[in-house]
Amino acid sequence: MQTNTNKQVVLVSRPSGWVTADNFKLINAPMPVLKDGQVLIRNQWLSLDPYMRGRISDAKSYAQSVNVGELMVGGAVGKVIESSWPQFKVGDSVLAATGWQLYAAMNAEQVLKIDTTQVRASAYLGILGMPGITAWRGLMEICEPKAGETVVVDAASGAVGSVVGQLAKNLGCRVVGIAGGPDKCRYVVEELGFDACVDHLSENFENELKAQLPSGIDCLFENVGGPIFELLLSLMNPFSRIALCGMVSEFNQPAHAYKTIRSILINRIKIQGFIVSDKLESWPAIRSNLHDLVVSGKLKFRESVAEGLESAPDAFVGMLKGKNFGKQLVKLSD
Ligand SMILES: NC(=O)c1ccc[n+]([C@@H]2O[C@H](COP(=O)([O-])OP(=O)(O)OC[C@H]3O[C@@H](n4cnc5c(N)ncnc54)[C@H](OP(=O)(O)O)[C@@H]3O)[C@@H](O)[C@H]2O)c1
Repeated sequence: MQTNTNKQVVLVSRPSGWVTADNFKLINAPMPVLKDGQVLIRNQWLSLDPYMRGRISDAKSYAQSVNVGELMVGGAVGKVIESSWPQFKVGDSVLAATGWQLYAAMNAEQVLKIDTTQVRASAYLGILGMPGITAWRGLMEICEPKAGETVVVDAASGAVGSVVGQLAKNLGCRVVGIAGGPDKCRYVVEELGFDACVDHLSENFENELKAQLPSGIDCLFENVGGPIFELLLSLMNPFSRIALCGMVSEFNQPAHAYKTIRSILINRIKIQGFIVSDKLESWPAIRSNLHDLVVSGKLKFRESVAEGLESAPDAFVGMLKGKNFGKQLVKLSD
């Protein structure tokens, strides 16, 4: 039901080191007023993503930072409650970068109508959204794995990693995941169908990982960075490929000092960093492929849901510490 008040989460201070919930504040804000060419959206689901840690830092990056006092950025799905644009009707389900708020008036060209007849709306923030497309692009365009090759992905139960591993399995690869804790590892193998998953919190992590990689690594989809990436670099095969997607373990602390970089040279490794938004024109076709794979049961996904906008800061910090189990969302309304 529409209320007269909007609520927003704004940044009130920049973190130095670990981000905390105190870096954010929940405020009341005026209800957005619809202008010509806009749609008014009542958000149902808010996406929390690791890249947001970069947005609240003032370090140079590929995207502009959020200033102190400003609304936190982020993607959301919701329902159109008012429209001044014929393409959108009241009741349509839509995806838009509204930021962390209950209501948003968005220009029509910034809003995507989504088909929720076969896949639920929240999936458009995860497997059918930016994280799923990231998985597809890094794996297919950079790693380019062939059947029989060994693919490794860390943060394997998460929004990106879970899709990477399943896509690689569908291509006939041997897939080894890395995840934090026995429950996540069990899910990755038993539900997602990876060949193996190694718990990076285990005391014997290094030996357990090596035992699962008797033929080394042909393709690495790197999400984590830090000591895990350091170890993986030393296990890469000659002429192997690395898609450098993220370094979430280094977001809240000083950068790791890598000692195994020489592996790139002696093994002639192809390594490429990428940002999913660099090729927006490729998103519709990739999303459509992912949609078909979800509908046919070839891709599964899991969500971690925090309730209410006020829970977003804690859930965001928790995700960066591995408390999420699957794509981290915040439920805002039915
Ligand atoms: N390049 C791009 O365009 C792009 C786009 C989207 C995402 N990304 C990157 O992809 C990565 C995964 O993103 P996501 O959305 O799928 O997040 P996610 O995997 O759903 O959640 C983050 C996960 O990172 C793992 N993690 C955090 N700190 C760690 C540490 N110190 N050591 C090992 N693992 C740690 C945790 O999993 P465990 O409990 O299993 O350790 C946590 O659950 C991030 O690095 C993100 O920045 C990049």
